[in-house]
Amino acid sequence: MNDIRHTVAFGIDIGGSGIKGAPVDLATGEFAAERVRIPTPLPATPAAVAQTVAQVVDAFALDRSVPIGVTFPAVIAHGVARSAANVDPSWIGTNVETVVGQATGRQVLAVNDADAAGYAEVEYGAAKGVAGVVLVVTLGTGIGSALIVDEMLVPNTELGHLEIDGLDAESRAADSAREREELSWAQWAVRLQRYFEEVEKLFSPDLIVVGGGVSKKHEKFLPLLSLNAPIVPAGLRNAAGIVGAARLAAQRR
Ligand code: BGC
Repeated sequence: MNDIRHTVAFGIDIGGSGIKGAPVDLATGEFAAERVRIPTPLPATPAAVAQTVAQVVDAFALDRSVPIGVTFPAVIAHGVARSAANVDPSWIGTNVETVVGQATGRQVLAVNDADAAGYAEVEYGAAKGVAGVVLVVTLGTGIGSALIVDEMLVPNTELGHLEIDGLDAESRAADSAREREELSWAQWAVRLQRYFEEVEKLFSPDLIVVGGGVSKKHEKFLPLLSLNAPIVPAGLRNAAGIVGAARLAAQRR
């Protein structure tokens, strides 16, 4: 596995409604202190969000040497946001590591939210030790994806934006669609079935891991799905993003 020279790192999850952070014990993948959450400022511009991230970090007495990782709900290539499906469009082209780094006065690693969750599942959760192709799919405001091959993450797969039946998949099958359209679990499961069938057709995963806030209620919908691969809830549930970002920051060379 990957070497880490730290015992604790700090993870921050930048989401559409809240910015959450916690120190992570890297030996166990558990929070080392209770998580702090501050509502996401509106409009969620880079400067406003970076200030809120700094507030979250300042809520803890962190040593300067503690690595910091932030998740962001967009394509992140070398620190720069390259898409903005569910975030303020002014983020496109913004170097997340630079703006958050300046606001916090620390070096920061930025990673796509689903990739962070996927990485945490490989290190500490449901995908640990699984050979072959694993897909981690987060169901929330959007649909995020992490593709993992023999425990290596292939970043920025963006499988929430597959076009299915002429529509952006996440607009039909995200958890926000269930809430917005007041779908029953069974009605939502029909859409998830369609979604995961399409994903299976393209990737033939050996395992599918489902994360996001709704993974806490997995028993309401996962048993309604019938797929070739086993489909299981994220071992770390919604904490996976924070944990994965912290771990990746600790591994950065
Ligand atoms: C974004 C992804 C993100 C996902 C979950 C999608 O709309 O395009 O980058 O991972 O939502 O937040």
